[in-house]
Amino acid sequence: MQNLQDKFKVFEERDKEAEVGGGLKRVEKQHQAGKLTARERIERFLDHGTFVELDKLVKHTCTNFDMDKNRIPGDGVVTGHGKVDGRLIYVFAQDFTVFGGSLSLSNAQKIVKISKMAMKMGAPIIGLNDSGGARIQEGVQSLAGYADIFLLNVKASGVVPQISAIMGPCAGGAVYSPALTDFTFMVKDTSYMFVTGPDVIKTVTHEEVTKEELGGAMTHNEKSGVAHFVGDDDEHMLMMLRELLSFLPSNNMEDAPMIPTTDNAQRQEESLQELIPADPNKPYDMHELITKVVDDQHFLEVQPHYAQNMIVGFARLGGRSVGIVANQPNYLAGVLDINSSVKGARFVRFCDAFNIPIVTFVDVPGFLPGTVQEFGGIIKHGAKLLYAFSEATVPKITLITRKAYGGAYDVMSSKHIGADVNFAYPTAEIAVMGPEGAVNIIFRGDTDDIAKAERVDDYRDNFANPYRAAELGYIDEIIYPKETRFKLIQALEMTQNKSECNPPKKHGNIPL
Ligand code: HXC
Repeated sequence: MQNLQDKFKVFEERDKEAEVGGGLKRVEKQHQAGKLTARERIERFLDHGTFVELDKLVKHTCTNFDMDKNRIPGDGVVTGHGKVDGRLIYVFAQDFTVFGGSLSLSNAQKIVKISKMAMKMGAPIIGLNDSGGARIQEGVQSLAGYADIFLLNVKASGVVPQISAIMGPCAGGAVYSPALTDFTFMVKDTSYMFVTGPDVIKTVTHEEVTKEELGGAMTHNEKSGVAHFVGDDDEHMLMMLRELLSFLPSNNMEDAPMIPTTDNAQRQEESLQELIPADPNKPYDMHELITKVVDDQHFLEVQPHYAQNMIVGFARLGGRSVGIVANQPNYLAGVLDINSSVKGARFVRFCDAFNIPIVTFVDVPGFLPGTVQEFGGIIKHGAKLLYAFSEATVPKITLITRKAYGGAYDVMSSKHIGADVNFAYPTAEIAVMGPEGAVNIIFRGDTDDIAKAERVDDYRDNFANPYRAAELGYIDEIIYPKETRFKLIQALEMTQNKSECNPPKKHGNIPL
């Protein structure tokens, strides 16, 4: 019979076996590739000493390909809970040193277990992904495991924030769970996402592409819009993830945490008086307005590299977390196109799901014309943004800085689709279309250039301003740029107990 010391020793050995994962050689390879191990990542991500690991000794049950002779405790995923800034978080980290972080059924069950706990306890789920996809040796069992995770991702959507970090080569099923979650982070030079890798592509389509071009961090941050953030290395990315969490509530029944600030709510920003150029065709940087207005100039931009004509991100005003949606006159004149509409719509829906008020800065010349946009379905994609703003019941505050033309005026959180407070600067131009376009249509066939120039000026003076909209109550207040911060904070305070519900339904039918 074993004595007490022997029993403790068995426990110690089993625990140690789990800690080393796929062995020191593979750990070394992971480090040489510039990547941290699963446990190192969790350690860096969570508040020090708060991690509680679950299911450390779980093993796979596969017997194919002699797999029963190769069973590593933990089975390639580290799962558990801990804290970020003192708040409860559930986390899993795939261990690439164990069968390439591939997903077995047991491995999936561990992820499912913490996901269910996260939903019950009302805490975010964070996935640190580094996986070759379905564990090939397990066949359909691993596919079943993935499907169990996908189902839970969908059930948890809008209940607790779900955030994915891609921290290695993620293929096949390993990219679909991240795609179902709210935000995806990637790491420069060491992370990849693709449904099928370069070798398969070469066989099927004879196309030659490197894995960096196909699914590297900048491909998904710049071109596809699949990813939302990019970090320089594992550590930097994990710090960005912590920063994002600081803006979010733990679940859909809570408000985001208030973070007190020393930045004066009444602060006037004189330099904003000059930000909007007198010439309406001159661009300016909307980032400048955002950073000068928010608490401590702290703005966490989401998808900063994608569809740059639309800026979205998180900031605080008077300590309260807000989602900012803004047209960017500095890029394609801030026009709405397919990508910017989808980017904006997804962000607005996230904010609405998690009780984060939306502040919208408008300077939009309209929707981008052309066959590329029409054939690509700008009608349905633009409608997504319209749908998202209309459906959102969180406090909605809108400021028109300059252009608000045509359908884009309606779409960008206008009074008509439920905004609670609508401001405009004296420089605002709110009309069906810009002066040149309007004169060309109303006076079609008139070839006198001097008369046309006069008519354009007349139109600008009489229609391209905020006063008609203000007379009709579509704009609640015209404000000076320098008082923007105070006006927004006041409006947020006024709307903080807003209570509005959409009619009961199973779910709406957003134009996908
Ligand atoms: C089992 C796997 C594995 C997998 C990698 N490994 N992928 N084991 N199942 N899916 C193992 C390797 O055998 C190796 O084991 C170790 O992980 C490291 O892999 P390497 O190939 O040496 O690493 P690297 O060169 O960095 O390449 C990483 C990789 C590549 C790009 C991920 O391994 C790869 O292409 N794997 C297969 C990807 C894939 O096609 N997965 C199935 C997708 S289908 P040793 O013992 O040598 O360390 C799928 C269906 C779900 O996921 C669909 C749901 C919608």
